[in-house]
Amino acid sequence: MSALSDDTILSECPYSHEVIEKEKKIADISDDGVHTHYNAKGQLVYVAPINGETFVIPDAPRRCTWTKNAKQDGVFFPHTYQNWKRSEKIQDNVLQLIGNTPMVKLNSIPKKAGVKCNVYAKLEYFNPGGSIKDRIANRIIQDAEKQGLLKPGMTIIEPSSGNTGVGVALASAIKGYKCIIVMCEKMSNEKVAVMQALGARLIKTPITADSYSAEGIFGVANRLHKEIPDSLILDQFSNPGNPLAHYDTTAEEIWDQCDHKVDALVLGAGTGGTLTGISRKFRELSPQTKIVGVDPVGSVFAVPDSLNKTDVTFFEVEGLGYDFVPTSLDQTGADHWVKSNDQESLTMARRLIREEGLLCGTSSGAAVSAAMKIAVHLKEGQNLVVIIPDSIRNYLTKFVSDNWMEARGFQISKNVNKHWWWENAVSKVKFRKIDTLPSNETCDNVLAIMRKLNVDQVAVLKPDGNILGTVTKSHLINNILAKNVLPTQKIENCTLRIFPKINCNTGRLGLISRILEKDSYVIITESCGHSKGEKPLGVVDINDLYDYICKAENAMSWK
Ligand SMILES: Cc1ncc(COP(=O)(O)O)c(C=O)c1O
Repeated sequence: MSALSDDTILSECPYSHEVIEKEKKIADISDDGVHTHYNAKGQLVYVAPINGETFVIPDAPRRCTWTKNAKQDGVFFPHTYQNWKRSEKIQDNVLQLIGNTPMVKLNSIPKKAGVKCNVYAKLEYFNPGGSIKDRIANRIIQDAEKQGLLKPGMTIIEPSSGNTGVGVALASAIKGYKCIIVMCEKMSNEKVAVMQALGARLIKTPITADSYSAEGIFGVANRLHKEIPDSLILDQFSNPGNPLAHYDTTAEEIWDQCDHKVDALVLGAGTGGTLTGISRKFRELSPQTKIVGVDPVGSVFAVPDSLNKTDVTFFEVEGLGYDFVPTSLDQTGADHWVKSNDQESLTMARRLIREEGLLCGTSSGAAVSAAMKIAVHLKEGQNLVVIIPDSIRNYLTKFVSDNWMEARGFQISKNVNKHWWWENAVSKVKFRKIDTLPSNETCDNVLAIMRKLNVDQVAVLKPDGNILGTVTKSHLINNILAKNVLPTQKIENCTLRIFPKINCNTGRLGLISRILEKDSYVIITESCGHSKGEKPLGVVDINDLYDYICKAENAMSWK
């Protein structure tokens, strides 16, 4: 953080001390329209013209008569001071800025929840790569270097939910390693963009692939490792440096920042490194501290295992939970597990931004909503610490977007413009039939069929007839040109499994219009009883919606 010197503050000030002294004697509104008045203490108070009745183009000539070492004594002094603190002097490179993250008190959210204890948030997004995973990425790279496993010119391959990928890519950029990150396609494109900007190569795996299958993150990482000479998988999921990074640093920082008084600690688990490392250190430092693990519904980490029973297989929160228990997770590190769901997590993440000004990600919402459930049982004066692992940057097109939240049913679409058609059922629009193709069709055949039919999108079906996803012409051609897929490969390798859709029975036109503000089409689906599957019924684009509205309005005007 840069420090403001008095000189800087003075030079930004539009008024000199002398001018202000004179103005004390003049009228309330000066010639250039700036409003001023005196408060009860006789101090001059400015009213910004932009908030007042008059507006002044802000190009008035500077009237500041600043001089170096201007004396404050005896003159009315208009400046407000902010104390500044020097945290560190100059570092050799950005990796040295990892750790020592700030902690801040939550105010509005605990108050509204009736919480009496102090709730402190450890802001891990202050790390240079934007997340808690910078700590472990740097540590496991340093360990591998010390052990002689990683040498100049080598390629690091890492399966990741994205944040470790960013940390590894960041360290690789500085240290000169080649870097390949293998990540499930569920994770945000924002993470992809950051890693690519850092020079990493990104390989996405299908959302439907189990982690350990040949197409999953570990299967693909292992295949690449065999194919690429001089490559190394650091493997955050089993690397002891992962929990050790938190044992050695994060836990110590929390202990110090809370002046050795931590009654409860609430944190989510992905690889489990944070939970394992912090809990082990706290068992030594403060065995009475209650450690609470947070695990999304659909993941299998919580203990007892009965907590994990669900038919949910997908959750939106990124970075938490898996379909297996990683080596780096010691589940007994938590005294208590709380299951989190997407609705609570995403809503809380939005509240953390809106009410506390914490520009955080979705796993922070999961942790804080769980923390509130624990905090209501703590007394005044007790301290609860919750970890905020990453930042809003990763999710600008996801939960931060109202359209995205509405399309997934996490938020209601408000009829701001009072459209008559807003609550009308989807079935009112004459939707076009969507062409369907089996998932084992080859990419070149699919492209030929799409061209022949002159359609921009088709639905890809699983063998049971349910929809696997969609293919758009541009997505398919781009992926063939980028050599991400061969024309002879099956179309399931190039299917968009996350696609815009709406249910024919429950969907409303208002929601369709909100989805079409961001996407070029919406697939109309029908749920298939208890099977959890969905059948594609048709497709709607903005022309279809507009035609329906215009036709109906024309018809109304004839009445
Ligand atoms: C956003 C986010 N939150 C939480 C976590 C969990 O951290 P850990 O892997 O240490 O369990 C991760 C891990 O990738 C993450 O990316």
